[in-house]
Amino acid sequence: MINYTEKIPNNVDLGRDRVLQRALEHWQPAYMGWWYDMGPNESHNYEVYLRTATSVEPDGWAQFGYVKMPEYRWGIFLQPRDEKREVNFGIHKGQAAWQEVPGEYRSTLRRVIVTQGDTEPASVEQQRMLGSSCPSMYDLRNIFQVNVEEGRHLWAMVYLLHRYFGRDGREEAESLLARRSGDADNPRILGAFNEPTPDWLAFYMFTFFTDRDGKFQLCALAESGFDPLARTCRFMLTEEAHHMFVGETGIGRIIQRTCEVMKENKVEDPSDVRALGVIDLPTIQKYLNFHYSVTLDLYGSDVSSNAANYFTSGLKGRFRETKLEDDHVLADAEYPVSEVVGGKILTKQVPALTALNERLRDDYIEEIADGVGRWQRVIDNVGIPFRLTLPHKGFHRAIGNFAGHFVSPDGEVLSEEAWKKHEFEWLPSSKDYAYVQSLMSGRVVEPGKFANWIAPPARGINSQALNFEYVRFN
Ligand SMILES: [Fe+2]
Ligand SMILES: [Fe+2]
Repeated sequence: MINYTEKIPNNVDLGRDRVLQRALEHWQPAYMGWWYDMGPNESHNYEVYLRTATSVEPDGWAQFGYVKMPEYRWGIFLQPRDEKREVNFGIHKGQAAWQEVPGEYRSTLRRVIVTQGDTEPASVEQQRMLGSSCPSMYDLRNIFQVNVEEGRHLWAMVYLLHRYFGRDGREEAESLLARRSGDADNPRILGAFNEPTPDWLAFYMFTFFTDRDGKFQLCALAESGFDPLARTCRFMLTEEAHHMFVGETGIGRIIQRTCEVMKENKVEDPSDVRALGVIDLPTIQKYLNFHYSVTLDLYGSDVSSNAANYFTSGLKGRFRETKLEDDHVLADAEYPVSEVVGGKILTKQVPALTALNERLRDDYIEEIADGVGRWQRVIDNVGIPFRLTLPHKGFHRAIGNFAGHFVSPDGEVLSEEAWKKHEFEWLPSSKDYAYVQSLMSGRVVEPGKFANWIAPPARGINSQALNFEYVRFN
């Protein structure tokens, strides 16, 4: 069970380590300062129908009730320890899983934890203004749920930094509160976490595409030979599922509403669709292209010696590592990666160890494709002849083998000039953003009401009715 009588709720017996407890209690007010500054705008007095974890067991981690967000019980929750757990891959395969940081991997591991931790507050910062344009009380509650849990994920990483990395760790924990998404001088570490999330279509795309990158990174870290990291990530993954649900159903509901309006009014032309106050399907495709491509970059270079080192040293595994049937060492294995040679996209085999970023990206793409297939079924069910597609992996990439090349969504290598000519057929233009934002000029918060551009969800949160008062504004 989680001890809620302590200042910092936890299931790591924090009270027994007074030095650590004091260090974290010192960080806590700084965290609250960050939340007041960078958490959801004007939300501090709202009472929100949120879930809070009271234990890491299946029946305890989602307790629902009204909470003022600054009073949310952010804390430290790890999956219980498995005494028999081993390092399951790399050169240390078969050793007992590490309960302390191996000295030779200290700085690498710290970097991995900081990079993961940095994404959590970043997304809260990116989304902080969206409450003022929410399409319903239900959706407002959902974004707040995502935000408080990203805050908790920051706690999860900061616990590891404080507990296992001494002074360096404490300094990193402070820096995590100092960087700001999109800031020119002190930005967040990864590119996609410095992009604005200017509207709710972007928010749902972000939670579908970019939170799912989070899922895959956490899955890889949940395999780590460093046991506290693995156990932390396991528990974070239970929360992450809801974030992707918000994204997938959010986009699904927008598509459904658009298709219904098209069908009812017998219109197909995007400008006619827009005249009816819903988001035309080509604009949804452009947002998809944008969020997909910037998220693919998060996996890093196709061929990477860092990725090989993380794996070989047992720090970061593959997606579902222990379920894979191979030697988990990969000394002789190969893996295909793409590259652009003479205006053509070619595939070549490289040592599998160096291609682990690409492999994780491919695992991700497979899951993304399933989700896009489910959106397509919404369109097909209404009987509209429109196909949503994932662009080619090389489209609009800034990192890896495709960086610097101009690849069309169909996978054709173009000249820069030719690509630029079509850019805004493929990616949202300022006019597209302006149109989407014009639909979201105010918030819809009457219980049970939904903005015109989105369909209601199939069901409410925690079996509550759709007209339940998910947020009390006080
Ligand atoms: Fe997260
Ligand atoms: Fe998330």
